[in-house]
Amino acid sequence: MKLSNFIATLLLLICIHSVSAFPPLFPNVNPWDAFQNLSGCHLGDRMPGLPDLKQYLHDFGYISGQSPANFSDSFDDELEAAIKTYQKNFRLNVTGALDPSTIDQMTLPRCGVPDIINGTSTMASKSSLHGRGLYTYFTGNPRWPPSQSQLTYAFTSTSTSTVSISVSTLREIFSRAFARWADATTLTFTEVENDADITIGFFSGDHGDGEPFDGVLGTLAHAFSPTDGRFHLDAAEQWVADGDVTTASSDAAIDLESVAVHEIGHLLGLGHSSVENAIMFPTIRTKTKKVDLAADDVDGIQNLYGKNPNYTGASPTTTVQQRDTSDGGGHGLGWWRGMVWRCIVVVGVGALVV
Ligand SMILES: *[C@@H]1O[C@H](CO)[C@@H](O)[C@H](O)[C@H]1NC(C)=O
Ligand SMILES: *[C@@H]1O[C@H](CO)[C@@H](O)[C@H](O)[C@H]1NC(C)=O
Ligand SMILES: *[C@@H]1O[C@H](CO)[C@@H](O)[C@H](O)[C@H]1NC(C)=O
Ligand SMILES: *[C@@H]1O[C@H](CO)[C@@H](O)[C@H](O)[C@H]1NC(C)=O
Ligand SMILES: *[C@@H]1O[C@H](CO)[C@@H](O)[C@H](O)[C@H]1NC(C)=O
Ligand SMILES: [Zn+2]
Ligand SMILES: [Zn+2]
Repeated sequence: MKLSNFIATLLLLICIHSVSAFPPLFPNVNPWDAFQNLSGCHLGDRMPGLPDLKQYLHDFGYISGQSPANFSDSFDDELEAAIKTYQKNFRLNVTGALDPSTIDQMTLPRCGVPDIINGTSTMASKSSLHGRGLYTYFTGNPRWPPSQSQLTYAFTSTSTSTVSISVSTLREIFSRAFARWADATTLTFTEVENDADITIGFFSGDHGDGEPFDGVLGTLAHAFSPTDGRFHLDAAEQWVADGDVTTASSDAAIDLESVAVHEIGHLLGLGHSSVENAIMFPTIRTKTKKVDLAADDVDGIQNLYGKNPNYTGASPTTTVQQRDTSDGGGHGLGWWRGMVWRCIVVVGVGALVV
């Protein structure tokens, strides 16, 4: 191979590599986008995409038992019942069919904690009164004992090595997120180096707890009930740590602080809520900030830990969101422009060398 060809090939490889390193050249799309193909499906239909949808409903607790490997492509009674429960939980019309609003709700990025655990903790199990009292707890109502009201948290070493967010930014974000819950209760949260009650870390794919992450979008994070203390975030997300998430260049941008406030609710013992404004609602849209506790969250946490006498009540939930339904996994124009410039520079330098 001639030297010039070699250099050209090398530069091309560098260019391709810099594109594929972060974020990827062919970015993962929302793993649940394929559900859009199932729109309109109902009892009695057969569709090749149905086993994946059954797997999804199984993962979040709507289909119990049965080895996931055995799901069939037929829309059977069990699937219809699971969809009806899902529709009740998300306060959709209970049709038992895969209507467009149900499919849209199912494709939104969400928390990995199931909505139904061991057949209990159904989100809508209680009567609904003006969007309150729909919070839930884990089975057996686990909570941190009164002797442990001064909780500590730490970031695992993987936090700083797997995502490009500075330690100081992480500290600010989590300090604000914990403060939301501390303000409403008499719990306190302090960051420590070691032996923390709560450990926070970013992980990719299968990370050893049987709850593998799925890349961009899909599940975003999960946390364990008291007094486990593990809080895991999917390192593959397009996390927005500072700046305005609503104007982020990536269409897959997810606000880190919003997800942190939600997962801390689980760490303290809250399950999912059917109230869309509640922090404990299972899904969050891309490019959306949602960090204020709603009345439902406050009722839930105060029934578990008591009130902070100084707390002035839940602020009205401010949900700034992009009303666009295309929550795809693409990259914004800014990102592509940056990539094109990087390639032009690499190729330009290469031309000079050759
Ligand atoms: C949706 O269905 C169309 C036509 O059947 C198919 O070409 C496409 O690959 C499907 N998309 C997904 C994501 O499964
Ligand atoms: C599920 O499928 C596996 C093999 O894929 C088989 O060994 C198992 O017996 C099946 N289980 C049921 C309940 O059909
Ligand atoms: C529920 O059904 C009513 C009446 O058919 C309809 O107007 C409404 O848009 C539906 N809501 C959703 C979320 O699909
Ligand atoms: C579910 O129930 C089984 C058997 O009762 C128990 O061993 C398991 O820990 C429970 N799982 C959860 C997440 O509560
Ligand atoms: C409530 O406010 C008072 C006065 O600022 C303070 O001394 C007290 O510690 C606060 N109580 C709690 C539980 O935060
Ligand atoms: Zn959750
Ligand atoms: Zn995990």
